[in-house]
Amino acid sequence: MLNSYVIRRALSDGKYRKIFVERLSEPLHLNLIALGVALFGSYRAKVAFDLMVRQQYAFPILFAAEEAKKRGLSRITVLEFGVAAGAGLLNMCDLARRTEAATGIAIDVVGFDTGAGMPPAIDYRDMPEYFQEGDFPMDFEALRRALPGRCRLVIGDAETTIPAFLASVTDEAPIGFVSVDVDYYSSAVKVLTVLDGRPEQYLPLVPVYLDDVSMDGANPWNGELLAVSEFNADHPLRKIAPFNVLRSKRVFKNAGWIDRMFAAHIHDHPARTPATAKRAQQAYIPNEYLR
Ligand SMILES: C[S@@+](CC[C@H](N)C(=O)[O-])C[C@H]1O[C@@H](n2cnc3c(N)ncnc32)[C@H](O)[C@@H]1O
Repeated sequence: MLNSYVIRRALSDGKYRKIFVERLSEPLHLNLIALGVALFGSYRAKVAFDLMVRQQYAFPILFAAEEAKKRGLSRITVLEFGVAAGAGLLNMCDLARRTEAATGIAIDVVGFDTGAGMPPAIDYRDMPEYFQEGDFPMDFEALRRALPGRCRLVIGDAETTIPAFLASVTDEAPIGFVSVDVDYYSSAVKVLTVLDGRPEQYLPLVPVYLDDVSMDGANPWNGELLAVSEFNADHPLRKIAPFNVLRSKRVFKNAGWIDRMFAAHIHDHPARTPATAKRAQQAYIPNEYLR
C-alpha cells in the first residue's frame, strides 16, 4: 500500500521525467558519486550534482551570491515572479538560507503575484491552450504565515507593483536572480520591466529562469520567449540570452532546467564598461614553449 503511494508520488508532477528520463539516463558512475555527495557533500557540491529541490533556483542563487562576493558585496536580492500556492517561493527561501550559510552573502527574497491567479489572456501569444484566467490561486494568509523573515510577498499585477519595488532596490543589495513563472507573454512583458532600473541595481549578469518555454507549443513568437525577443529589441544595452555554455559546465547534462536558464546581461553596468572595469593587474598568458 505504502509502496504504491510512494511510487505514485514519485511519478507525479514531472518527477517521473526527472528521475527516469533525466537522471537515470546519466552515466552510472556519476549517479554513484551523487549518492556520496548527497550523504556527505557540502552545499556547493550538492548544487553541482543537482541534488537540491528546485535546482533551477539553487544554481542561479549560488551563482549570484558567488558573483556578489567577488565584487565585495555582502547582500543580494532574488525574485520570483508568479508565486501561486507558494511552493516555489518557500523552496527559494530555503535555498537562500542555505546559500547564505555557504557563502556569507545575505539574501533577500521577494515574491510577486496577483494573489488571485492568472489574469485574462490577451490573445494567442498568451498560449490560452495551456493557461486561463483564474488558474493557480493563492491562499495568501496561509502562505504569509509560512514565509520566513527574509521573504517579502508583493501582491498585485506586476505592471503596478514593479515600479515601487524597483525604486526600493539599493546598490548595496542588487538584484542577483529573477525567476519568471507568469506563463503568459503579456505578463512576462510586464515582469521584464524589472530589468529597466539603474545598472548598479543589478549584478552585471543576472541569471533569469524562464519556466514556460519548454512546452511543445512554446516558440519565439509566443509566451515568455516572445517577451524576451521584444525586450532585447527595445534595450540596446540590456540583453537576455540563454545562459552561456551552461550544459557543458554541468555534471548532469540531461537536466531540463538547463534549457530554461537564461541570463540578463547588463552591458551598461560599471563592471562592463572600459573606464570602470579596469583591473589593477595586467593579464598575462604564460608560454611553456619559450625558455
Ligand atoms: C504557474 S503559476 C506560478 C507557480 C510557482 N512559481 C510555483 O513554482 O509554485 C503562475 C502565477 O503567475 C501569476 N501571474 C500571472 N500573470 C501575472 C501578472 N501580470 N502579475 C502578477 N502575477 C501574475 C499568477 O497569479 C499565477 O499564480
